[in-house]
Parts: sequence; structure tokens; C-alpha cells
Amino acid sequence: MAKEIKTIGVLTSGGDAPGMNAAIRAVVRAGISSGLKVKGIRRGYAGLMEEDIFDMDTMSVTDIVQRGGTILFTSRCKRMMTPEGQQMAAEICRKHGIDGIVVIGGDGSFRGAQKLSEHGINTIGIPGTIDLDIACTEYTIGFDTACNTAMEAIDKVRDTSASHERCSIIEVMGRTAGHIALWCGISNGSEYVLIPERHKENDEQAIIDKILSKRRIGKKHHIVVNAEGVGNSYEMAARIEAATGIETRATVIGHIQRGGNPTCRDRVYASAMGALAVDLLLEGKTNRVVAHKDGEFCDYDIDEALAMEKDINEHLYSMTKRLSR
Ligand code: ADP
Ligand code: F6P
Repeated sequence: MAKEIKTIGVLTSGGDAPGMNAAIRAVVRAGISSGLKVKGIRRGYAGLMEEDIFDMDTMSVTDIVQRGGTILFTSRCKRMMTPEGQQMAAEICRKHGIDGIVVIGGDGSFRGAQKLSEHGINTIGIPGTIDLDIACTEYTIGFDTACNTAMEAIDKVRDTSASHERCSIIEVMGRTAGHIALWCGISNGSEYVLIPERHKENDEQAIIDKILSKRRIGKKHHIVVNAEGVGNSYEMAARIEAATGIETRATVIGHIQRGGNPTCRDRVYASAMGALAVDLLLEGKTNRVVAHKDGEFCDYDIDEALAMEKDINEHLYSMTKRLSR
């Protein structure tokens, strides 16, 4: 028989993402409207270990749906990766009467959630990462906002790059995933997109050849979008300038991409995912992750979700090459 859930906890873990607050709000409001008690856990698993836990009511989440960051703070916690830490985290949940927990974060955070579930705490993960690098879902909280932020920044760099007839290497976030770079490459009409999933040794020579051939047909400036994980953009810019003779500048957009007011899409999807996570807990489910696939909100077993592999959208990637001729 499914365990009866009376009190739930909510935490954010790993890198923050715009829209996490909308998800927190949804968990709290949906939980309370269903008769549950809701406890906030500050600073992810680190705060759980330190029992930084507090009661939340509907007013705890007022005026946050539009705010970037996470009101619960976030962290990375090595102790949660040890069997002792995982057992202690589950015991602390029990001590505070937490029967179910909603973990908003990425793959790493879901591994922690999986362990809590093994220790008898019902857990539901919500995908929160700007990187879109969670295989079971086509949407992750924050990706839309991060792409829009990066896109607007690249538009601005393009203005000055065009005025000076330069080449600009613009680095977007994505240590292991090139989704932001790919979307910006398309939306900013870049000459070239460099992503970790498809990075090849001869990419840089191809960029140089392309820049030179485009100069010959009258192109006055060039935009290259580089995902963080591919390599150092400043060094790349120096090499490209030396090889082409064209003034080249690097711009690293950085953590600006993780902040700012979430877009409408991030607010709406994060809200829907937060409410669904509460429904799953109410149904007695555990070890599940909320997802958005083929136009529907759904959920997967965390073990299955973590075993899935995500690739870049090949259709979009090959399209960038056709459109940047
Ligand atoms: P993300 O959740 O965005 O992928 P991290 O990989 O940094 O971010 O993971 C966030 C936190 O999740 C880690 O600091 C750790 O506390 C927890 N975590 C990560 N991997 C594991 C694991 N294998 N087992 C238990 N907890 C983990
Ligand atoms: O949130 C994801 C991400 O932005 C990655 O693209 C990046 O590599 C990483 O987080 C950097 O995070 P931090 O600066 O917090 O270590």
C-alpha cells in the first residue's frame, strides 16, 4: 500500500536556473491546497544535512514567480555522495516528519534523490538546469531564459563587431552540453557553432576557411558561437586573428545566463512541473522525475531517466551549417 504523505519538503540543488522560484511556488501552493504541510530546505542537500529546514505557507512564496535565482539557495554537497551522508539525510527527513521531497536540479541532484528514495523517503525530481542536458525531457527549467539572455547579448556584440568589421567569438555556457550554443547559433545567425557533442579537431581550420571565403564575397563581420566546454575562447580568438589577419575579439557571456527574470515559458512550465510533482507525491509515487516530452507533461522512473542518453538535435545542428553559408 502506498505510503500516506502528510508533509513534503522542497529543495533546489546544483546550478541555479531562472524559473526555479516558479517551481518552488507551485510546490508550496499546490501542496498546501491539497492539505499538505510544506517545509523548505535551504541550500540543497547541504542545508538538509544541517537541518536548515523551515515551515512554508502560501505567503512564503509570494512575489517570487517572476524572480530569477532560488529563494531556497542552492549548493553542491559532497557529503550527499557518500552512503553515510545519504542515510543521514533520510534520517533528518524522518526527524522533521518529511514523508516526501521534491528536488529541483539536474542529473546529479536526481542521483541524490534516488538515494533518498532507496532510504524510504518518497522523492520526485524536477529538471532545473539552463543546460537542457537531462535526457528524459525536452524541457528543463531555465534553458529558455538563458537562451534569450545569451541571444540578446550576442545581438549587442554583433552591433559592435559589425561597426569594426571584426570577427567575434562569443562563449555561452555549457561545459558538457551544446544546446544553448546551438539555439543561439540559429537565433543569432552565426557563421559557426562549436559544441562539445560534435567538436572536431579541424573545426578551427574550417572556421578560418569560412571567414576568409566570406570576406571574399563581401561579408564584413563574423559571429562564432562557442560552447564553454569546447575550449578557451580568448586563445581561439588570438589564433583566428593570426590566421586570418582579421581583428578578432572574444566575449564570454558567463553567469549572466543563469540570472534574470524567467521568460513566460519558464514560469509556466516550471509551475506545471511543480504542481505535477506534488500530485505524484499525493499518489504515493517515489523515485520519479517530472518531464516534458512530445508536448505533454509526464514522469519517468529516476533510474530509467538517468540511464538515458541525450544527444544534440541533429536536424537543428545540420541546419545551422546550411543556413550559415
Ligand atoms: P546538477 O544537479 O545540476 O547535475 P551536480 O552534479 O553538481 O548538479 O549535483 C548537485 C548535487 O547533487 C551534488 O552536489 C551532490 O550533493 C548531489 N549528487 C550528485 N551526484 C550524486 C550521487 N552520485 N549520489 C548522491 N548525490 C549526488
Ligand atoms: O548551470 C549549468 C552550468 O551553467 C554549466 O553550463 C556550467 O559549466 C556550470 O553550470 C558552471 O557552474 P558554476 O559556475 O556554478 O560552477
